[in-house]
Amino acid sequence: MSLEHIIAALETLQSDALDKIGRAQQSHQLEDVRLQFLGKKGRLTEVLRQLAGLAAEERPQLGQKSNAVKERLTQAIDQKLQALKFAEVETRMQSERLDASLPGSGFPRGHRHPLHLVMDELIDLFARLGYSLASGPDVEDDWHNFEALNIPADHPSRDMHDTFYLEDGRLLRTHTSPVQIRALKKQKPPIRIIAPGRVYRCDNDASHSPIFHQIEGLALDHNISMADLKGTLKHFTAEFFGPEFPLRMRPSFFPFTEPSAEVDLGCVFCRGSGCSVCKRTGWIEILGCGMVDPAVLEAVGLHWEETQGFAFGMGIERMAMLRYGIPDIKLFYENDRRFVGQF
Ligand code: PHE
Repeated sequence: MSLEHIIAALETLQSDALDKIGRAQQSHQLEDVRLQFLGKKGRLTEVLRQLAGLAAEERPQLGQKSNAVKERLTQAIDQKLQALKFAEVETRMQSERLDASLPGSGFPRGHRHPLHLVMDELIDLFARLGYSLASGPDVEDDWHNFEALNIPADHPSRDMHDTFYLEDGRLLRTHTSPVQIRALKKQKPPIRIIAPGRVYRCDNDASHSPIFHQIEGLALDHNISMADLKGTLKHFTAEFFGPEFPLRMRPSFFPFTEPSAEVDLGCVFCRGSGCSVCKRTGWIEILGCGMVDPAVLEAVGLHWEETQGFAFGMGIERMAMLRYGIPDIKLFYENDRRFVGQF
């Protein structure tokens, strides 16, 4: 073949290839074109075999021409590849919509519930005073919840308790005081226990929930007095609310303590000057307590001449509300993460 023929063949090869490149719709088709025309066994290599038949001075011309064809095609393929990739991204962007204003999915972190935080803090606080943890069942019998606590069946204070009864005569404990009895059945004095847990009363309004939590304290030994009770409570409020709030004990009545007292704390919101929370009194009631009644000791086989001590009981919700300034008891049970996450 003459040089002109070969050059013409190269021109045809180039225009064939450009035509195929132009029509390619997918990147693999371009790879085929590359193989078919520029590959080791491709059409360009085939044309260049004719080089052998040319005169030495013609060879450089053909070399130049074939290089130019090769370069032209490589460039065309690469450009088309780019364009195809761009088009692919375009169509993907058209079909997939992304709303950049949507909140991210993230990994939300859980939080300890404020009631748990308060409960744990109280357990720790009393543990440092030598109290150990005690517990009892939520479903109680009449004897532990009432009878042994000196509340006989006809006692008027049963009305205060708004008890949920089960069909078999058992009940949902109305307070944590039955844990006192259970602990004393297991362990002889000296004893110091702290018992947090759920309690139940058919009571439901803005400040009462049918299920709430109490924490019970009991200390019995040979010569524990009311002064020890007051000292213990003073230590507790100083640690829990701060040492600046005064404490006062008001005479009260519970069948299982004698004498009994209700304890008020100087209002943590107005610091005693009077506000809506303390109903302008400057004081907030925080717990009930007293010296363990001889009748209770007797119910568990103890005698007041050998054993004396005190008991106290408080609402954990109430402690948390005062501690964190929470206005509504219902917030504890909704489990809204925006609420729970604040503590
Ligand atoms: N159990 C009492 C109540 O639920 C509180 C209390 C406990 C009072 C221990 C005195 C001693 O109100």
